[in-house]
Amino acid sequence: MTQMEQDPARKGIVLAGGSGTRLYPITHSLSKQLLPLFDKPMIYYPLSVLMLAGLREVAIITTPEDQEQFRRLLKDGAQWGMTFDYLVQERPEGLAQAYLLAEDYLAGAASTMVLGDNIFFGHDLPVLLKAAAARPEGGTVFGYQVADPERYGVVAFDRSGKVLSIEEKPAQPKSDFAVTGIYVLDGSAPERARRIRPSARGELEITDLLNSYLAEGRLTVERMGRGYAWLDTGTHASLLDAGNFVRTIEERQNLKIGCPEEIAHGLGWISTDELRALAAPYLKTEYGRYLARIADLS
Ligand code: TTP
Repeated sequence: MTQMEQDPARKGIVLAGGSGTRLYPITHSLSKQLLPLFDKPMIYYPLSVLMLAGLREVAIITTPEDQEQFRRLLKDGAQWGMTFDYLVQERPEGLAQAYLLAEDYLAGAASTMVLGDNIFFGHDLPVLLKAAAARPEGGTVFGYQVADPERYGVVAFDRSGKVLSIEEKPAQPKSDFAVTGIYVLDGSAPERARRIRPSARGELEITDLLNSYLAEGRLTVERMGRGYAWLDTGTHASLLDAGNFVRTIEERQNLKIGCPEEIAHGLGWISTDELRALAAPYLKTEYGRYLARIADLS
C-alpha cells in the first residue's frame, strides 16, 4: 500500500464519549476531547494517529449532547480529504460498546480504534500501525511500560514474550505493561462485543473483548518501547503535563505534533492550495502561520 491509498478493508474509530468526571468542573459542560492540548483540540491527536496509519474513513463516537460541537469543529472530513461519520453513545457503558455502536458503520470491515483522550508520539508509529493492520486476522494492541499499571489493562508475558493474560485494573499487576488506547481489530470485533456481558462496574470491558481474541490465540501484543510517548490527559495535572510536553517538542523543532492539515497535505489528500485556504482564517495564530509556511515551502 502506498501512503496515498486508503486501506480499503479498514476503517478508523475515535471513541470520544465518556463523562470526564476526573476533570470536573471543566468537563461539566465541555467534552474532554475538545479541551485544548497546548495549541489544538485534544481530538486532533488521536485523529492524526489514524491519518498516519493511512485511514481516511473515520467514525467519531461522542455523547449525544457533545456531537454538535464535534461536527462544528471537524465537519464531514472533506476539508482534510477524509470522510467522518458521527455516532452517538447514549451512556458511557464501556470501551467495547464502541464496536456495537459501529457495527453497521463497519459493515464487516476491520478497524483501528483510538481513544479520544490518548496522546501518542513516536517516530515509527505509522510503521507500527500499518504492520498491525497488515495482519489479516485477529487483533493487535500495544503494551507500554508504566509506573502505575494497576490503573490500566495489564498484560502478562511468559519468558518467551508470549501473552499469558490481560487483566483489567488488577490489584496485583503481573507486569508493568499497560494496554494503550489503540486497538487494531479484525472484522469479528462487533460480533465478539455482542457476546460479552457488563462487568461489576456495569461496563462492556475492552479487556473482555481482547480476551476473546486471546483465548483463540488471535491476539498480538506489540511492545511500544521507550522511544514512544503515551500520555494521559484524564486529570488536571496530566492534562497540563501533556500540553507542556507538546509545547516543548513543538517549540524546540518548529514542527507540530498531531496537526491534521499538515498530515493530510503530506499524504497528498489535500492540495497545496487547499492547505493555504485552511491556513487563511487562522493567520492570527502561530498554528495558521505554520500551515501557511508549509504551503509556501511546497
Ligand atoms: P476514561 O478516561 O476511562 O473515562 P472518562 O473519559 O469518562 O473519564 P473519567 O474517568 O474522568 O470519568 O475513558 C477513556 C476514553 O474513552 C475517553 O476518551 C472517554 C472514552 N469513553 C467513551 O467514549 N465511552 C465510554 O463508555 C468510556 C468508559 C470511555
